[in-house]
Amino acid sequence: MQRVTDAAKMTRQSASAALLEKIASRVIGLDLEMPVATGKSARRVYLDSTASTLRLEVVQHVLDRYQPYYANTHSTVHFGARLSTREYDWAHEMVLRFVQADRARYSAFFVGSGTTGGMNRVARTLSRQLEGRDVVITSIMEHHSNDLPHRKHFREVVHVPLETGETSMGCVDIRAIERALKEHEGRVAYVAITGVSNVTGIINPVYDIAELAHRHGALIVVDAAQMIAHMPVCMSGNADPARDLDVLVFSGHKIYAPGSPGVVVARNELLLGQEPEEVGGGMVDEVHIDRYVPTAKLPDREEAGTPNITGAIGLAAGLHALDRVGMDIVFHEECELMGYALDHLARLPDIAIYGETDLERYPRAGAISFNVRGMHHALTAAILNDYYNIAVRNECFCAHPYVREMISHALAEADDALSNEELEALAELQRGMVRASFGIYTTKADVDMLIVALKDVAANRAYYESQYEACGSDSFQHKTFRFEPDQFFSIEGAVGEWLAGK
Ligand code: ALA
Repeated sequence: MQRVTDAAKMTRQSASAALLEKIASRVIGLDLEMPVATGKSARRVYLDSTASTLRLEVVQHVLDRYQPYYANTHSTVHFGARLSTREYDWAHEMVLRFVQADRARYSAFFVGSGTTGGMNRVARTLSRQLEGRDVVITSIMEHHSNDLPHRKHFREVVHVPLETGETSMGCVDIRAIERALKEHEGRVAYVAITGVSNVTGIINPVYDIAELAHRHGALIVVDAAQMIAHMPVCMSGNADPARDLDVLVFSGHKIYAPGSPGVVVARNELLLGQEPEEVGGGMVDEVHIDRYVPTAKLPDREEAGTPNITGAIGLAAGLHALDRVGMDIVFHEECELMGYALDHLARLPDIAIYGETDLERYPRAGAISFNVRGMHHALTAAILNDYYNIAVRNECFCAHPYVREMISHALAEADDALSNEELEALAELQRGMVRASFGIYTTKADVDMLIVALKDVAANRAYYESQYEACGSDSFQHKTFRFEPDQFFSIEGAVGEWLAGK
């Protein structure tokens, strides 16, 4: 019997792996060939998926098939409206299925401007819903979108520190969360934690934190902007219900469907019983001159105005394709790539990697931030782009406190004679990192290319430095090589082309 089960498991795994390979190898723009500063051209190595993932071909296919039927979901009778409404509703169901949220108890709704839009909505809604609870606990690791909305809408936001591993910082310190919960007992509205850091890719134990928050009468809000594309999410149905998540926020552009909206998934009771934050068309049952009655129907109640229907359909297409593979398989594949990348980067003596690199203790997903020692992050990123067509992001990734903290930590490790003031001044001066981030289409060959490029940069530092001039304090421009975007694309040019065509 065991042999039969094992065989069935292996068949499923190999079918899923084949499906993943198909989805991951057909991605729009992945192979973009561009002229580079050597005078040759190079195929793009896209290592900026944490900022935005590329669009899967399957997503584009669905959008192309849908587009002729496009209509407003607020119209109800004509064919296009009926088809659009049905699929738009299905998109919500797909989200719930993808994050394993019980349809009877949770709702998913779409919002503008990605995770930031979602998190602002959550903070505004919960600050009214949980009146009297005026504290939010978060960590120093957070993206600004999981920090500033809470600061704006609550009296106090507590930023808990991270665990310190052998040499650097790891995941959020769960004992510090417990201390903060005890210290503010009865006042904490929720603990807002990222599932995966957008800077280091370090994974936080969100289900343990949920259990802890619930034990102290607080809710858990998870920023899944990075988590969503890299690992399975289980909002409800955990063996211990205390480990279920109350609210989850993410954005479609982080999961292979750029152009799609932000997403909030929340327990229904957190959305009912008070007027919705946004009002207008589509969310009311009755409107009179002197009063109006918001609908009790979710998610309509939370989606005032004509939604981004096409974006939601693209997102649902991507989620469905990944669901067919299984996010456990995606996670498994990506863990292997992360191990490979960290191992190879760590062997480069000129590279400083940020965050704890012991993957057994602090697993990571999707991102690694580093610097070439002694080189400005913006110069490294410019060289990688201009000479290798390797797309990375640099600076602070909208996570200033975390980046500042890690740079100070690294500087202190390197020179223990520095005073606190000197450390702070240096950290401010060198504030910024280079980030390589991965998606399902990232291969070991892409990582190898990054390693080759970084070795070259470190070995020929003086040459590369001589090729650039600084523009202000945070950017570098090649002295002779120029990139003119409109030679490749401009709206005006593309419209002109179409108008001139047959
Ligand atoms: N803040 C997003 C990032 O991490 C865009 O790159």
